[in-house]
Parts: sequence; structure tokens; C-alpha cells
Amino acid sequence: MSTTTTTTTTTSLFSSAPYIPPDAIFALTAQYNVDPSPVKVNLGQGTYRDDNGQPWVLPSVREARKAILENGLYHEYLPILGLKGLRDGVAKLIFGGGYDALAQKLATSQAVSGTGSLHLAGALIKSVTPKHLLEKRKVYIPAPTWSNHHLLFSSLGFDVVPFTYYNAHTKSLDIDSYLSALRSAEPASVFILHACAHNPTGLDPTVEQWKEIGAIVKDRGLFPVFDAAYLGFNSGDYDADAWAIRYFAAELGIECAVCASFAKNMGLYGERVGAVIIVTADGTTARNTQSVLESLQRSEISNPPAFGARIAETVLGDERLKGLWFEDLRTMSGRIAEMRRALVEGLGRYAPEHDWGHLVRQSGMFGFLGLSKEVVLALRDEYHIYMADNSRISIAGLNTGNVEYVARSIGEVLAREQ
Ligand SMILES: Cc1ncc(COP(=O)(O)O)c(C=O)c1O
Repeated sequence: MSTTTTTTTTTSLFSSAPYIPPDAIFALTAQYNVDPSPVKVNLGQGTYRDDNGQPWVLPSVREARKAILENGLYHEYLPILGLKGLRDGVAKLIFGGGYDALAQKLATSQAVSGTGSLHLAGALIKSVTPKHLLEKRKVYIPAPTWSNHHLLFSSLGFDVVPFTYYNAHTKSLDIDSYLSALRSAEPASVFILHACAHNPTGLDPTVEQWKEIGAIVKDRGLFPVFDAAYLGFNSGDYDADAWAIRYFAAELGIECAVCASFAKNMGLYGERVGAVIIVTADGTTARNTQSVLESLQRSEISNPPAFGARIAETVLGDERLKGLWFEDLRTMSGRIAEMRRALVEGLGRYAPEHDWGHLVRQSGMFGFLGLSKEVVLALRDEYHIYMADNSRISIAGLNTGNVEYVARSIGEVLAREQ
């Protein structure tokens, strides 16, 4: 009788997995959290804080939550496309008076916050693009942009192409480069446009510039995807912040996607509430497109999370709560604008030889300071002030107790750099 011996070598299916460094902003928050310094300041992650540096549960959200709990909370699945009341509520909110004329042309789905809605929009575009055209269907993103855009669309298989958005020399929007990128892109190319409060620069096109952008987008048959993560949060006026979307969809009749998030504007960061709205050419296309969204959603998450969606649906569905929410938006954007002014005023005192005019021209949650990486690292290591390496700060991390310290520290580091 013969025996056979088999030798097995341990191999892993994942032996070719590369090490991917952690996301820079989440890593920065982790570093801030373990810093024992009593003077530390977190200007990294874009999350709203009140004047005591604490997270803020919006009064409108608090009321909606109470009502949901009192009415009996249950934990059943939502439909695949999510809550109908939320989907309709978001579309009405975004298109305002133009909603009725557009309603038949809309395909909508609840999504996993802004990130999930961008992903669903990307997956939709991919699924309706014939295979042989996929390589040609580029996704253009502004440079710079939110740090996840590149990863998100390239992970879907798109060729992601940055276009120049910002002129670091003049610290302003580079509209000429922007327009020439639009003019030279192939028809049906996808452009990711920040609906307002451009992250990280805080610089949005003016109304006149949006009109120029819209004219080229229409003329060249480009497909805009509006990343709408800050509607209402930017200026405190939802209608003003949604202006560009309404102009493209209602006035110019352009097919587009709107990827809405309720993370910032309702403070529902961890609840992951969002919606994707596709403005299509007609009712039949809308119906078919929505069926594709439903099928994609089923394959990816089956159905979206319920609790935060119920909160947003309740707020949007009740005129009184909606009014309260609009007040909350003004509270948040007002405090941020006040802190922007206080920072500019402090920098004027502590670093008067530098021009801080660009900070005044920016708006929204972020300030793009224009500091070198060396200065950013010195502020982090020596002063416990945490900001992104590109010197983007979340202004919501400033308050009356720390803004002076931040301005003085920046002044001190800049002074010794000279
Ligand atoms: C421009 C932009 N888009 C999308 C998002 C996604 O946000 P969320 O997925 O948390 O809704 C963010 C978050 O910071 C953002 O700044």
C-alpha cells in the first residue's frame, strides 16, 4: 500500500492586496482625538459645531425625532427606492417653484447620504453607457475638489480627469480654465459640479459665470452631476443655494443628476440620509431610469437606512418644522459667517503683512487659507491646531473661545517663516 503526501503552501487570495493609507481627513480626526492638549482645535473634518465646540442637534430635527418616537418607532425595511415622502420632499425642495413642470421627468431614489447618491449616479451612468463607449465617457472633476470624488468615480471604472478650477496665485476661481475644459470635453462627458460651497476652495461661480457654464454644457451636450452637499447650509437661504441647479434643469432644460445630502444641512452626519434625483428628457425615460436606479440599489444595499430618512421626511413634510429648519440653517450659516469675519479680523491684527482678502471672497463651511504645508504642520505639531494639509479649514471648528488663539498662532508661524 502506498501513501501519498501532499504538501500545502499557505497562500492568500489577498497576497496581492496593496496597503492603502487611511483617508487623510479621517486620520487627522483620529490624531486630534488622542491629542491631550487642552488648547487643541479641530479645523479638519467638515462637521458643524456650536460656539462651545459641541456637535449641534438641530431643534427641527430634535422635534421630528420626538414625534417619530412618540408615534411608535418600528424597524421594518424601507422600499428599495426609499421613502416616497422623502424622495418627493427633496425634489420639491430642490426645484422649488419649478417642481411641478419637472415632476414627470424625474427619476429619484433615496441614497446613503451624499457619497451614496454620487455613487448611485455614477453606477447609473455606467450601466446606461454601452461597453464600447465606457472608456471614452470621462468623468471630469474640479482641481481641487472634495477628496473622495476621484476615488469614488475611479472605483466605478471611469477615467477621472481633473480640470483646473482654482488659481493658486490669485487665490480665485479660474473661470477661463473651467470654460475651456467644458469646451474641449467630448459630448456626453460627465462633469461633477459643486452646486454651492465648493469644497475645499469656498469659491463658487457667480450667476453670470453659471450662465456661461450652462450655455457650454447645453451646447456641447455634457452631463452635469451636481454634488449638492451644502444646500441651505452655505448661505442660510435654500433657494439661493439651489439656484444653479434650478437654472440648469428648469430654465435650460438640461438633463442632469442632483446628489443631495442631509449630513451638513440637517446635521444627520451619521444617519446617512441622501437622495439622487435624475432630471431626464421625458416621462418614459424617467420611468425607465428610475427602474435602473431601483435595480442598482437592490444589488448594492437592497434598501436604504430608515431612521434618519424618517427624520428628514418629517421635517420636509410639515410646514412648521420646515420653517424651523430654515431658521436652523440661518443659525448655522450665520455663526460660520461670523467666525469667518472674526478670523479675518484676527489675521489682520496678527499677520497684517499678508493679504487675507481671499478669505472674505470665499463662502460656506470652508476657508482655504493658502498656507504652505510646512506652516500647516507647524500649527499641528506645535500649536495643536489641526487642518487639512492643503490648509483648508472647517470654519465651523472656530468659536469665540478659540478664534483669537488660531489667528495669533497662524501669525506667529508665518512671522518666523519670513
Ligand atoms: C463636496 C462634498 N460632497 C459630498 C460629501 C459627502 O457627504 P456625506 O456622504 O457625508 O453626505 C461631502 C462631505 O464632506 C462633501 O464635502
